[in-house]
Amino acid sequence: METEELIIDDSERCVFRYHRTTMTSPDVLELERQRIFDRCWVYLGHESEVEQPGDYRRRNVGGRPVFFVRGQDGGVRVFLNTCPHRGALVCRRDEGNTQVFQCFYHSWTYNLDGELLRRPDEAGYSETVDRTEMSLRPPPRVDNYRGFYFISFNPDIEELPVYLAGATEYLDRIADQSEVGIKVSRGSNRYTVRSNWKLLVENAMDAYHLLPLHITYFDYVTDLVKDIPGGGVIKNWRPGVVRVLGNGHVVQESPGLTGRTVAQWHPVMGEDSKEEIEAIRERLVELHGEERTNQIAGTNHALFIFPNLFINDFLFTILRTFDPTAPDRTDCTAWSLVPKDHSTNLQARRLDNFITFLGPGGLGTPDDSEAVESCQLGYQAGEMAWSDLSRGMHREATTADELTMRVFWREWLGCLLGLDGVETADRTPGSRDG
Ligand code: FES
Ligand SMILES: [Fe+2]
Repeated sequence: METEELIIDDSERCVFRYHRTTMTSPDVLELERQRIFDRCWVYLGHESEVEQPGDYRRRNVGGRPVFFVRGQDGGVRVFLNTCPHRGALVCRRDEGNTQVFQCFYHSWTYNLDGELLRRPDEAGYSETVDRTEMSLRPPPRVDNYRGFYFISFNPDIEELPVYLAGATEYLDRIADQSEVGIKVSRGSNRYTVRSNWKLLVENAMDAYHLLPLHITYFDYVTDLVKDIPGGGVIKNWRPGVVRVLGNGHVVQESPGLTGRTVAQWHPVMGEDSKEEIEAIRERLVELHGEERTNQIAGTNHALFIFPNLFINDFLFTILRTFDPTAPDRTDCTAWSLVPKDHSTNLQARRLDNFITFLGPGGLGTPDDSEAVESCQLGYQAGEMAWSDLSRGMHREATTADELTMRVFWREWLGCLLGLDGVETADRTPGSRDG
């Protein structure tokens, strides 16, 4: 099958489908590695994870082992996690603080700038060889936007803010939750799902499944708030708007009906948090004005940054990444973000909401994993060759529709075909030849 045949995008019939081999084929995954993960900016981590000189974090990004570290000069540096000597992983722990990185295989030792400090039997090496050849190597491109670090293995990629396009506005809203900045809470959720990574991408921005699949959660919350004035807002849930942000990025925006710790108090949040939340709101209005405060504090966002970063900004703010390790295996990681100056009470509230829904034993994530793994199993019936994402194509799509996923898949196809500037929004019926 030719790559361009993998997707049916018919604006006349309002039909959008993709062929299921995109979810099962090792050849497709190889093409994705070359044309997407080797070509795009891919999320690495947040500056707050390495606050002190010597703080480091180890990750896998775009199929490579990497780590990042705060230098003595305060700068953040990123290195490929492979020893210039013979290849061993130089950084062997997920996180920590160190003065130097010493490779455990033959004890070559590097400083926080990645320079080779010393190695056993220095005299065994000719002085004519430049030591900088033996420094740790950074990825070809490293940049950050408001503390969110991305790397790229494509030396020719556009500048990060250009790549992020309209997504910068939404990263700004999150970064502006506090004037002293935001930070990643200690720890993360890491789990492996037996499905293709794109099923997780779809799932994360699929509002269609919320009520059918997560009914246990909604029943639980409805019961929790049934005697609280205003608790009925959960029943009043209405779809929000979808904004197509360019380069495959997309966001769903909806009003924060059940309150937000930054900073929209609601009776379901309890009297103990009222004063603090209202004070935060007042300060935000002083800093940013009423309209922008509503954008920051009164609006829920589900932001997708192509190819594999999600930011859910609801009662909590969390980051999630989906890394393919095989056509039917994906490593998922989730971190919680909190404003640095919020009280322990508000931070705990965010973590509690995060874990209750998205935690490994939460009321949401296990259902989602079950659903996407079930799709992957269903693909074994290869006679049913296509999956459908047509909902809302014939109308102005809302968050309840499948536009967000069409945006992703159009960008995905554009990348695989090597096209620039793909139009990822829906075309109105009849516009194809016009
Ligand atoms: S592989 Fe690292 S010191 Fe030999
Ligand atoms: Fe879900």
